[in-house]
Amino acid sequence: MILVTGGAGYIGSHAVQRLLRDGQSVVVLDNLHRGHASAIELLKHEVAKGKPSPTLALVEGEIGDYDLVLDVLKEYGVREAMHFAALAYVGESVTRPLVYYRNNTASALSLLEACDAAAVERIVFSSTCATYGEPSADQIPIPESCVQRPINPYGWSKLHTERMLLDYSAQRRNAGRPVGLAILRYFNVAGSDRVGVLGEHHHPETHLVPVVLQSLLGTRGNFGGPAGEEGRALTVFGTDYPTPDGTCIRDYVHVEDLVDAHLAVLRALRPGEDRIYNLGIGRGYSVREIIASCERVTGLRVNVKEGPRRPGDPPALYADPTKIHREIGWRASITDLDEIVRSAWEWFRKHPAGYQTGL
Ligand SMILES: NC(=O)c1ccc[n+]([C@@H]2O[C@H](COP(=O)([O-])OP(=O)(O)OC[C@H]3O[C@@H](n4cnc5c(N)ncnc54)[C@H](O)[C@@H]3O)[C@@H](O)[C@H]2O)c1
Repeated sequence: MILVTGGAGYIGSHAVQRLLRDGQSVVVLDNLHRGHASAIELLKHEVAKGKPSPTLALVEGEIGDYDLVLDVLKEYGVREAMHFAALAYVGESVTRPLVYYRNNTASALSLLEACDAAAVERIVFSSTCATYGEPSADQIPIPESCVQRPINPYGWSKLHTERMLLDYSAQRRNAGRPVGLAILRYFNVAGSDRVGVLGEHHHPETHLVPVVLQSLLGTRGNFGGPAGEEGRALTVFGTDYPTPDGTCIRDYVHVEDLVDAHLAVLRALRPGEDRIYNLGIGRGYSVREIIASCERVTGLRVNVKEGPRRPGDPPALYADPTKIHREIGWRASITDLDEIVRSAWEWFRKHPAGYQTGL
């Protein structure tokens, strides 16, 4: 049995779906503050169709609730954990740093203590390229060895958790009770499961692909964005960056590929190992390239407005994913931007209010 924290969120739910399809039973722990119970309900319907069927349970609660987590780990006989639960808005982390350190760092410590008490054997942690801050141009594409110097509390809250996990793993090795630890640093995750069951429903939505698609559908207001005419426009922040078309470049990995990497890592992970990998496709797309892809896929024109740069947005961030390929053979299989965008488009078209759309 595997514990998936944050399993009712965007990436976590896709991981749960994949684990279930692989026949693995899952217990999800999620406080549902930013996740969707209906995503889990949909997955339960999928499970019900499968034979022999793995089991799926949702426990609504806090990762920082030590007693609850320990009970869950014991009751379900959990041996492995994927830890996705976190708050993940850079801007919010600047205005509410202590909330981020409490949720992403202090609560992760409590979760880890419970995992220790229950002798969980393998842990996979969702980290982020935000731990690298603003790497110098000679560090792009970004390798795992790139210096980690976050520029916001979100990045720090994740980096502190990385440190905690590595120290814990070292202590377990020294004590002759080794755990397997994987720290996966994601770049930009996009798209939806290509069967069309799950999607990306953040509130508010800040990620580029969903924001562009929602602006085309006029549904941004359903996802905490501006409603009406204002919501049909898309502001590009900064068009004077030193990049070929002047807009920022990021690495977009399809969520199913990202989840696939988790399973590959889990399979490879042996007791006593710490594995740290960047997860991306290894090339960047500019904001204008994303917009052009959305226009190709939808056949619609984006109403683009040009705005000033946002503080803390580096010109280019994309991964050097060669380490994970060399060590365990994983690489992203979906590198065609239009395919990534199409999967997101299909879901948003059918779910104009996300999981609030009558399912
Ligand atoms: N989406 C991306 O592009 C991206 C990029 C880099 C890293 N990440 C990391 O991936 C993970 C998942 O991101 P996502 O986009 O799926 O976010 P999400 O907000 O959709 O999902 C996070 C889930 O965790 C739950 N949660 C948060 N704090 C909790 C707590 N204290 N106790 C219990 N549940 C809690 C939320 O309710 C939500 O369901 C996060 O750790 C995030 O930092 C995401």
